[in-house]
Amino acid sequence: MLKIGTLNLKSRLILAPMAGVSDFPFRMLNRKFGCELAFVEMINSRSISYKSRRTQKMLFSDKDDRPLGVQLLGCEVKFVQKAIDVINKYKFDLLDFNAACPVKKVVNRGEGSSLLKDPKKLNAILKLVVKTAKVPVTVKIRSGWDKNCVNAKEVASCCQDAGVCGLFIHGRTRVQGYSGAVDYQAIREVKKALEIPVIASGDIFSPQLAKKMFDETGCDGVLIARGALSDPWIFKEITEFLESGKIIARPAPQQIAQVMTEHLDMCVDFYDEKNGVVIFRKFFAWYTKGFRRVRHLRELSSRIKTRPEMNEIIQKSAGCQ
Ligand SMILES: Cc1cc2nc3c(=O)[nH]c(=O)nc-3n(C[C@H](O)[C@H](O)[C@H](O)COP(=O)(O)O)c2cc1C
Repeated sequence: MLKIGTLNLKSRLILAPMAGVSDFPFRMLNRKFGCELAFVEMINSRSISYKSRRTQKMLFSDKDDRPLGVQLLGCEVKFVQKAIDVINKYKFDLLDFNAACPVKKVVNRGEGSSLLKDPKKLNAILKLVVKTAKVPVTVKIRSGWDKNCVNAKEVASCCQDAGVCGLFIHGRTRVQGYSGAVDYQAIREVKKALEIPVIASGDIFSPQLAKKMFDETGCDGVLIARGALSDPWIFKEITEFLESGKIIARPAPQQIAQVMTEHLDMCVDFYDEKNGVVIFRKFFAWYTKGFRRVRHLRELSSRIKTRPEMNEIIQKSAGCQ
């Protein structure tokens, strides 16, 4: 249903790369709920060659964690080249190059969305990536830098000319960050201009918004990002809605608690009890978004250190809906 280079995907729904979120437990949990292609956390091309423990953990995957993409950030040919040499030793199915990250320190280094201001440079880097990577290469861009520079169509054409076989586009400018309206028109224009598949990103929070993205832009696939932070059910819900128009009932409180427990266990198994619990804290806050009278449990969760304590809070939260 969605072909990106040599990669054939059955689903048009992709779990977005999310720094600080897309770790092995998060990916495996979403896979249980119907996610097909997922990404490891964004890797900085400068840090990958140091092979720190953290980077090793980020690059970890196993045979059930497939298909899997890796996303690279960088702007200096020397480091990008080195990073690809390292990545080529791992088993990934796709390499995405990031020209979308809005973070100030990233942009100040000339990386991420700052490359939108220099399509020629982006084209040159992508040519190198395409030439040296072992797997299909894609790129992720934004609609532009700011409202006065919505140049996604020009940037996307430069990327396609460089030989990438797919393009992800977040329909917001760098200046917008993660808020404000998604620019469906900019995505539609990119889709019209390109021959390679275009996968759209922005506010895929519900089946209806996913359908709106497909209908208004003609995109080939969508990226699910914040919509999956506390809601792995979103994959099945969108798939069902696109196929039959039916809305699946939302999970009951006890089901949410069960998934939280599973997610916590996966974090503890992958990291260790101390680190796993700390990493799970932010997920607890996301899972319980919209729950009533949950503030004290959230506050408590930010202090506790053991799995049994976290489990107790999870069980209590089921009564807060
Ligand atoms: C916590 C978080 C981390 C993110 N990290 C990355 C990243 O590393 N690379 C990337 O290309 N996009 C990243 N994004 C952007 C998402 O992939 C997505 O394009 C964006 O959130 C818009 O989709 P949404 O409105 O459905 O959340 C991140 C988003 C969030 C919320």
